[in-house]
Amino acid sequence: MAILVTGGAGYIGSHTVLILLKYGIEVVILDNLCNASHKIINRLEKITNKKLIFIENNIVNRICLKNLFKKYDISTVMHFAALKSINDSLHQPLLYYSNNVTGTIILLEEMLSANIRNFIFSSSATVYGIDSPIPYCETNSIGHTTNPYSTSKLMIEFIIRDFVKVNPSFKAVALRYFNPVGAHESGELGENSTGVPNNLLPYIAQVALGRLKKLNIFGNNYNTPDGTAQRDYLHVIDLAEGHLNVLNHLPKIKGYKVYNFGSGKIFSVLEVIKIFEKISGKKILFEYKPRREGDLPSFWADTSLAKNELGWQAKRDIYTMIRDMWNWYIKNPNGLN
Ligand code: NAD
Ligand code: WQD
Repeated sequence: MAILVTGGAGYIGSHTVLILLKYGIEVVILDNLCNASHKIINRLEKITNKKLIFIENNIVNRICLKNLFKKYDISTVMHFAALKSINDSLHQPLLYYSNNVTGTIILLEEMLSANIRNFIFSSSATVYGIDSPIPYCETNSIGHTTNPYSTSKLMIEFIIRDFVKVNPSFKAVALRYFNPVGAHESGELGENSTGVPNNLLPYIAQVALGRLKKLNIFGNNYNTPDGTAQRDYLHVIDLAEGHLNVLNHLPKIKGYKVYNFGSGKIFSVLEVIKIFEKISGKKILFEYKPRREGDLPSFWADTSLAKNELGWQAKRDIYTMIRDMWNWYIKNPNGLN
């Protein structure tokens, strides 16, 4: 039996593949490399000393999926494959809906025809939208998303929920990730962001490498202790390990379940900058700019459900996250491109 990891050459997918292989779980990776490099497969083989089964293709390719499900004994699909840039989605909504939503529908249809009935989906804390009570709890209502990317995740959660209702032997888990950062301690894997990063930590790293002049801090008049926005950061290895907890818990799951994957701890932009400067010894120049459209002042996860039901909680602290992230960038200043 093997796990199909769609998007397994990506940032979170590759770290999860590493953890699965470490625990002796067979993996098949499907990734079209639209936001990843084939080199990550070589890195994974180097770290694990194993030959990986990697199929370079698109999740919308039904023939590919049918052949893959025929050839490999897949028990579960971990579905990481998606386009994930909020900013890009605002300019290319149809691309995001076709890639993320249509792609997932096709995947589910082909899983059903192949009688593969375990599905673990990478959702996002952004499905809680702009007016959900904080800390975000899985029982909060979801919606009022602010961009096509987050709406694609919201739509997929509804699709999975409705699909499982009429296929009671199907098990599905949606994991709402908060803000994953960091990298494997080897520095062999990491976030391979191309172009100017949207996210805070990769942007800070580019400033530290001298690639970008300064960081624009979007808003310093939020109702937070230092006026800058706060986020719930979690180490990507904690996140990857959490997928093992879900796998082990699958036999007890009935139907469709949702879990927050966050640390429950928040740090502001200024706090992150200070910690980064301490760890890296680099000075990060910054300038305050107006708030970024769609940004919230502060949100974090209620982590109790994942802790009580999955026995999972984030363990690594913000210093470890930033130290491992910076180690990746020092070793791979140009990413893997
Ligand atoms: P990533 O871009 O590094 O990984 C996604 C991978 O999927 C890439 O390797 C890409 O090449 C592949 N892919 C995309 N569309 C595909 C398609 N149609 N067919 C085959 N492969 C395809 O992103 P990530 O940060 O690793 O995110 C993984 C998942 O987690 C995504 O679903 C994302 O929406 C979700 N997520 C990410 C974050 C975050 O901040 N990184 C937060 C919440 C949720
Ligand atoms: C964090 C904080 C910014 C960049 C992320 C992903 C999004 C989604 C959810 C997938 C915010 C501030 C940032 C910069 C800044 N992932 N910031 N200057 O916004 O919480 O969303 O998680 O579901 O794709 O982006 O994370 O890293 O973009 O921003 O001041 O150049 O840093 O305003 O307060 P965010 P982020």
